[in-house]
Amino acid sequence: MKTMRTRYFLILNGLFFMLLMTIANPSKASDLSKAALIPKPVSVKALGGSFELSAGVVIRIAEGQPEMQKVAQYLANQLNPATGYNIAIATTGDMPASNYILLEISNANNQLGQEGYELTVTKDNVRLSAGTPEGIFRGIQTIRQLLPANIESSQPQKGPWKIGTGTIVDYPSYTYRGSMLDVARHFFSADDVKRYIDLITAYKMNVLHLHLGDDQGWRIEIKSWPALTEIGGSTQVGGGKGGFYTQEVYKDLVQYAADRFITIIPEIDMPGHTNAALASIPELNPDNKPTKLYTGTNVGFSTLQTNKEFTYQFLNDVIRELTALTPGPYIHVGGDESHVTKKEDYIPFIERVQEIVLANGKLMIGWDETTLSALKPSTVAQYWSKAENATRGVSKGVKIIMSPAAKAYLDMKYHPKTQLGLHWAGYIEVDTGYKWDPATLVPGIAKENILGIECPLWSETVTNIKEIESLLFPRLPGYAEIGWTDAKSRNWEEYKIRLGYQAERFKVMDINYYPSAKVPWKSVK
Ligand code: ACM
Repeated sequence: MKTMRTRYFLILNGLFFMLLMTIANPSKASDLSKAALIPKPVSVKALGGSFELSAGVVIRIAEGQPEMQKVAQYLANQLNPATGYNIAIATTGDMPASNYILLEISNANNQLGQEGYELTVTKDNVRLSAGTPEGIFRGIQTIRQLLPANIESSQPQKGPWKIGTGTIVDYPSYTYRGSMLDVARHFFSADDVKRYIDLITAYKMNVLHLHLGDDQGWRIEIKSWPALTEIGGSTQVGGGKGGFYTQEVYKDLVQYAADRFITIIPEIDMPGHTNAALASIPELNPDNKPTKLYTGTNVGFSTLQTNKEFTYQFLNDVIRELTALTPGPYIHVGGDESHVTKKEDYIPFIERVQEIVLANGKLMIGWDETTLSALKPSTVAQYWSKAENATRGVSKGVKIIMSPAAKAYLDMKYHPKTQLGLHWAGYIEVDTGYKWDPATLVPGIAKENILGIECPLWSETVTNIKEIESLLFPRLPGYAEIGWTDAKSRNWEEYKIRLGYQAERFKVMDINYYPSAKVPWKSVK
């Protein structure tokens, strides 16, 4: 009798264990509540069944919505290569009973805001609704992650392509969720920047900040000052040939980002970090003699002449041309580490530049040092270094972008033994990068003072996209989650499990990630 009971117990235990294995494995399960989504959604209600994306599936949109046509095409383009289907996009007129994905603009749920979405999956179909095409687009990123990782393949793969049934309601915690790429220290091609855009898109970020000018290079064509790129664009850190984006190429990048509901924010750093401009345009210098091009990695040695009218005429030309290339509201003017600009010159310089940006119809962003100046309430300060600079900004009524170097700088090494990156702000392992809350990090800066978060990647040590990826991944999904998911719903111990399940997705997407020992990586195959 006793033996029978033990055997019964063991069998039951075994069955329970097998069940646990199934539900803990998101790519095989159809339980929506076990989906390892990053960023974590606001609410997930699972019903336990599954929808199977099968041949003949149709994407449906309402008639007369050209912007939705593009979004629907984006979804089809994401699904076609791996499924081998050629998914049709149709209007909602004659809705079939099953096997469709409906993308629906609806104001029924006013919680969703500009970027939220509601996803309802039944065994017959998928309905993704949002108040805006942007919300639909963010929801499409969720659909990608609900499907098996192989959906990211560019070659036909074996299905089945199942999604668990239930409902997800989701919207972001912060409106600004970005990453910065420094294309000045090393130059990266437009194709590399598109790859970067695709990678941040997958985690629902909405801003790409491009650092376009520094001591080592000027990377954007300014038609009124061609020497900037002819001379200033001709090199980079280490003395390589550098490069720059023509305005045509840059416009294409802006459109590529806009098609993914990502705003490109251009930055020209000033008055420091300007050697490439000083080497290109003699009149920017006190003696009208150009400086030498610079290919080292020191900071803080260059400055524009704050007392020369020529400087402001030049800056007005630059900002006017950048404005014409920029559909988004912001121009970033840097303002960091101007160590050889006297404070009494720096303060009025930033105020004058702010006037120029506003007169050109844009709003200004500056690094945290710019809060020394009188700032308009529409200006935004980006906290990277000194908490006192950021809190001064708050006391002046400006909003803050949170990019604390010791937590959010993607160019910091993970660990003393990792090759790429620097470590002046410390080592940022994956858990260190994740375990902080923008709204409690700095006393005096509360959620209502914060526009959002940004993780910058400075490029002193990286020279190609694969090196970039190794610093971006696996930290980037964590920064995306900090921006999207409310702090109360975030917890490293739970997050690291979801991150572990991303490994196969990284593999299929050919992402060169750092396999941190902090993460329980799962091979789902
Ligand atoms: C900075 O890292 N100098 C903004």
